Parts: sequence; C-alpha cells; structure tokens
Amino acid sequence: METKLWTTSEQDLKEAGKVLKNGGIVAFPTETVYGLGADALNADAVKKVYVAKGRPSDNPMIVHIHSVSQLGDLTPVVSEAMSVLAEKFWPGPLTMVVPKAACLPTVTTGGLDTVGVRLPASKAARKLISFAGCPIAAPSANLSGSPSPTVVRHVIGDLSGKVDGIVCGEACKIGIESTVVDVTDKVVTVLRPGYITQNQLEESLLKIGLRVEVDEHIVQMQNFAKNKLDLKLCGQDFKPKAPGMKYRHYAPKAKLIILIGKFEKVKAEMLKMTNELENSGKKVGNILLGDSDEDIELEMSTFFDKLRYYDEKKVDVILARGHDQKNGRGFSIMNRMLKAAGYEIVNVGE
Ligand code: TXA
Ligand code: MG
Repeated sequence: METKLWTTSEQDLKEAGKVLKNGGIVAFPTETVYGLGADALNADAVKKVYVAKGRPSDNPMIVHIHSVSQLGDLTPVVSEAMSVLAEKFWPGPLTMVVPKAACLPTVTTGGLDTVGVRLPASKAARKLISFAGCPIAAPSANLSGSPSPTVVRHVIGDLSGKVDGIVCGEACKIGIESTVVDVTDKVVTVLRPGYITQNQLEESLLKIGLRVEVDEHIVQMQNFAKNKLDLKLCGQDFKPKAPGMKYRHYAPKAKLIILIGKFEKVKAEMLKMTNELENSGKKVGNILLGDSDEDIELEMSTFFDKLRYYDEKKVDVILARGHDQKNGRGFSIMNRMLKAAGYEIVNVGE
C-alpha cells in the first residue's frame, strides 16, 4: 500500500480527515505519542488498525474527540466526575474510561462495555478529528510491542506501506502515553499512570467526595521490582484492569537494565558495569538523569526515542538510571522503564 505523507496545514489535514471518514487509517501527532487513527464507529476501519499494528484484538482502543461536548455521544450519561475531570484536564493527556454508548462497535472497545475517551491538546490532532467528522479510535502508532513513537521518523519506520497516510507533525512534548483513569465506579482508579498524576486527579475530585487509587496490580508490580521479589510468581495472577497493560511493551531490541539508588552510587556502578561489558565485547548505551521535576519530564519526553536510537546503533545492553517513585511523575516514567526492561532491576542502595 502506498502511504501518503501530509503536513499539518489545513489543506493537508482536511485531506487526511477525508481518508479517515472514508474508512482509511492515518497516523497523526498528539502531545503524548503519535496515534494510528480510524473512524471509531466503523468496525472495518478499526480492524485495519489491529492488522497494521499486529495488535491483539482484545486490547481496546482509546477514542479521540475534538471537543468536550462529543463525550456525550460516546457514553449514556456524563457523570459529575467526568465533568470535573474534563473541565480540569481536557484538552490534555488524560483518558477517561466510561460506560460505552451503543453506537460504538465492540471491536473498538475490545469487547468491553466501557470505552476510553481522550480529548488531546495537540491542535493538529483536534483539527484532524474535526475535519474527519467522526470520533477517532487510535492506539499508539508503533508496531505492537515496540516503543511508542514520539517523532514522525519512528512512525514512518514502523508503518510505512501499512497505512493510508501519516501526518508529519512536531515531536511529542510529553513523550509517554496518556494517564488512563477509570471513572465508572465510586472509587476512581488509575489504570495506566502518565503525565497527570494520582495527586492531581485527587485534588480535583476530592471536592465532590471522590478518592483516587492506582490499580493495585501496577503498584504491586513496581514494588516487587524494587524489592527484587519473585516476579514470575507475581506475574501468574497479574490481571491489570487496562488490558493493554498485560502485554510486554515498549521493549527495545537491546537488553535493558534499570539501576536504582542514590545518583552518585548509580553513576559509579553504571560506569563499572559499562567497562566490564565493553571489555567482554558488548556495545553499551547509558541513560542517566536525576530526580528533579525537570529531569523526570526530560526522561519522559526522551526515553522512547533513546531506546529506538540505541537500537539503531545496534547496542547490546542499555543501562538506565530509574527514578524516585514517590514523585508522581517518577512513578509514571518508572512504569514504562520497568516494562521496557521486563522488570530487570539492580538496586545499588541509598
Ligand atoms: O496517549 C495516548 O493515550 C495515546 C495517544 C495516541 O492518544 N494512545 C495510546 O493508545 O496509548 P494505546 O492503545 O496504545 O493504549 C491504550 C490503553 C491500553 O492499555 C488499553 O488497554 C487501555 O488504554 N484502555 C483503552 N480502553 C479501555 C477500557 N475501556 N478499559 C480499560 N482500559 C482501556
Ligand atoms: Mg500503545
């Protein structure tokens, strides 16, 4: 299949929108990661996305909208919690899981009776959705299992020849996927941590008396990894509520090891391990950032790109410093780092 490349000009976005409306699949930038979109109401179009990505079809898709009012088309009743979160965090990197409206085909929601809805901050994304004239189902625009794409080069590498077109926009500022939060229950639950943290969500929801928890399986996995308990045992009954969280994800071809502990100690250990590995003929890549808010945001916006960069350089082992998980965004980036590393972690101590 020939894949068209578009810019983010009005004219190009209109053309790309028409392709979506006619049942085609189009990759486009958002502020988190690039998405691969299809008309969410068209089951055949959505199926094409699963095929292009090589994605398991029980993994539901996030449905993207261009204005808050569209939420009412996708869920039977817009609750107070949904309104509060939409008011505070939309447009932005938050996906709300809500009861699904009958108009959505089951293939879009992976057979679930709920749907994840997101109003992205990216202007190009919102224009595209509005030109398409339909809600857009879009997973990240990577081949299933590889790191999410944060610059258009990644998308072209993964999906050229497999999709109708790609909107070439700027690099994604946030760099990891949206926070997914389940608002179908009395307790609001974070199903996938992201840029918007549990504390930020709770701050907004407490005024209507709602608490926010993080899916206990995610917390357990990240603690298990830290304490070096037997992950295989833990993995056997690991059933996260966001189906996508159970798949091996974001993995580079190189072996990735996360080192945690005090910055200076990690740095020294990383140097030592790098020397040893290089002496045994291995090619090594390093990722070393601190725990300031700026460093953690930088890690988020560059981590997936670095994994792909080191793969291009045919590195055998990547050593990356992990982050303080008490910091909300530190917890989120550690979620991606640990998954990418298959929970391989070395604790060098405080
Ligand atoms: O930032 C993002 O969210 C990006 C951009 C393109 O918007 N999209 C993205 O989509 O990351 P994807 O398909 O790679 O990840 C969607 C996640 C999966 O973990 C999926 O299981 C979860 O959201 N999810 C979607 N709908 C759900 C639902 N109804 N119930 C529970 N989890 C859901
Ligand atoms: Mg994804």
